Amino acid sequence: MIDRFTIDRILDSAHIVDVVGEFIQLKKHGANYLGLCPFHNEKTPSFTVSPSKGIFKCFGCGKAGNSANFIKEHESLSYHEALRFLAKKYNIEIEERQQTSEELERQNERERERESLLVVTSYALRQFSENLFNSNEGTAVGLAYFKERGFRQETLLKFELGYSLSEKNAFSRKALDDGYKQEFLVKTGLSIQGDERIFDRFSGRIMFPIHSLSGQPLGFGGRILKTDAKTAKYLNSPESDIYHKSRILYGAFQARRAITREDRCYLVEGYTDVLSLHEAGIENVVASSGTSLTQEQVKLIKRFTPNITILYDGDPAGIKASLRGIDIVLEEGMNVKIVLLPEGEDPDSYSKKVSNEEFRSFLKDNETDFIRFKSRLLMAEADKDPVMKANLIRDIVKSIAVIPEAITRTVYIKECAATLEVGEQLLYSEVGKLLGDKKTGDRNRYTAPGDLPTDVKTPDVKPLKHETASFYSEREIVRLLLKFGTAEFEHSVNAENDNRETVTVTDYIVDEIVSDELDFNDTVCAKIFADFRFHSEQGMVTGDRQFVQHEDPQVSGLAADLLADTYELSRIWEQKQTYVEQEEAKLKDIVCDAVLKFKSDKINIMRKDLMQQLEEAVKADNQEKIILLQKRYSALSTALGEISKKLGGRILL
Ligand code: CTP
Ligand code: MN
Repeated sequence: MIDRFTIDRILDSAHIVDVVGEFIQLKKHGANYLGLCPFHNEKTPSFTVSPSKGIFKCFGCGKAGNSANFIKEHESLSYHEALRFLAKKYNIEIEERQQTSEELERQNERERERESLLVVTSYALRQFSENLFNSNEGTAVGLAYFKERGFRQETLLKFELGYSLSEKNAFSRKALDDGYKQEFLVKTGLSIQGDERIFDRFSGRIMFPIHSLSGQPLGFGGRILKTDAKTAKYLNSPESDIYHKSRILYGAFQARRAITREDRCYLVEGYTDVLSLHEAGIENVVASSGTSLTQEQVKLIKRFTPNITILYDGDPAGIKASLRGIDIVLEEGMNVKIVLLPEGEDPDSYSKKVSNEEFRSFLKDNETDFIRFKSRLLMAEADKDPVMKANLIRDIVKSIAVIPEAITRTVYIKECAATLEVGEQLLYSEVGKLLGDKKTGDRNRYTAPGDLPTDVKTPDVKPLKHETASFYSEREIVRLLLKFGTAEFEHSVNAENDNRETVTVTDYIVDEIVSDELDFNDTVCAKIFADFRFHSEQGMVTGDRQFVQHEDPQVSGLAADLLADTYELSRIWEQKQTYVEQEEAKLKDIVCDAVLKFKSDKINIMRKDLMQQLEEAVKADNQEKIILLQKRYSALSTALGEISKKLGGRILL
């Protein structure tokens, strides 16, 4: 079994153009590449490769997928073997094995380069620090800013903070003068390659070095000081051979000992939150730098303690969204607590508002266990609404199911049964279902149909026959989710008073389909939809990449297939406006029509099904049943008529 993270690493390294280019000749064509399809005989090329999406698709024979799908087909391997093939080629470790001398050589080369990047980064740190404390601009602008925010000199030194001069290439020029190679300045991202010369990425920013656990600077975060600036408040070093955002936590170096000593790690969002907590005497603190935690970051904390306390800004809207990613922490078997700060405060502002003593006792007194926190928070809004409650239970059950310890799970089940006012037995069986799925390695265990608790409203959807009737409309829905999932449009909630609201394509589609209790027939479409639904219900977003690089080759294949369509159309139409732009312009209509078409297909399937039952009832001369079925049939016909009207009178049968 290759884990998700390794698959991502393999597919991120195995660029589709390189991989395919080894086997067939590719020619650049706009943003894509074209070639003769290796999977069927053709004279004019219809095999397309999209480097930006990491996919190929042949418009002749229909084969599509990512790099591994390509190797799988081309070399007649299994998907797993294809991944191993690529891992080997791109030097990605899957398991322990003997290295060849060639591999060792390559590794040495890579280490020499890493070394050079580290040397440049250390040099930059010294320059920035020198600027902050000893240059006119640095003291007048940078140091003055830190002082104004109330940070002490001792803190600035402890975190090796600095300042990057505002002149466009002050740093790059100095570094080149001092003999540092342009190549490494650019590779660390400290400098940016312009057309003629290089210039500084961070000019005019205060600099937060991001250290490795052993204190080696690996990258930087740079904050702009002007408030009216058009550029982002923070800039970060780009990913490089030494800087991997997902594996680093800001402040871990300075926090390491305190985390072990206190047997607890506080997690905050920002650089300045870390500084302020240190000033308040709390040194066991790290920052996720504004993004949700990765598994590697959790593992990093776990090396020092199993106890983590997350400090949330007191912003109610943000809280629900930030519940995201916490299942990752539970999954590692860690104990998670939450502290909610007073409204409008972040750890930085609040720690400055109250005394150190008050701040520390606030943390102690307001610590809540995560699952308890989540169930109370969600219960407060779901209490009287059975459908919401069903979702909530499913949600909590998910969190409990990822906890590896059986005893811990039991404790939570007992407690949540009380908070949620449902039977313990129900929670046990729901958790059990998820655990069962987990064993079979199904990543979509979260959204498997039938997860709904049985004592609240359960959709009564029969397995549908007539497999093909909704084939295209299901694919169209999935295509829109993949392609435009995060795009937004305005739609009217209430036609009478022209009440309008902005929704994302994902939320709109999920809501329409879920509230009508409709299902997908195609299992691959169903899988992808379930994932979008899960994310939508969590207030999270999901990107197409996750599907293109999915560990299930059927999912990655379908995602590539659907994402590729638009490329081909824009190629055929050869119009000024690309197909994507055209679709974006009338997104709302496209999405609404797709949903209506999907619904009408489903209704037609149900009507056919009813018709069959009706025939049987007629044969059996079951009058009662005949009347019932006729009623249902006419209700469906009415619904179909409504949809047809909305679609502008187009015939749907
Ligand atoms: N962040 C980022 N890029 C941005 C905005 C934020 O990388 N454009 C990250 C930074 O790591 C930042 C964290 O998200 O520290 C939290 O963002 P925010 O709360 O906006 O910044 P603060 O750390 O509070 O910084 P300050 O108090 O100086 O505004
Ligand atoms: Mn702040």
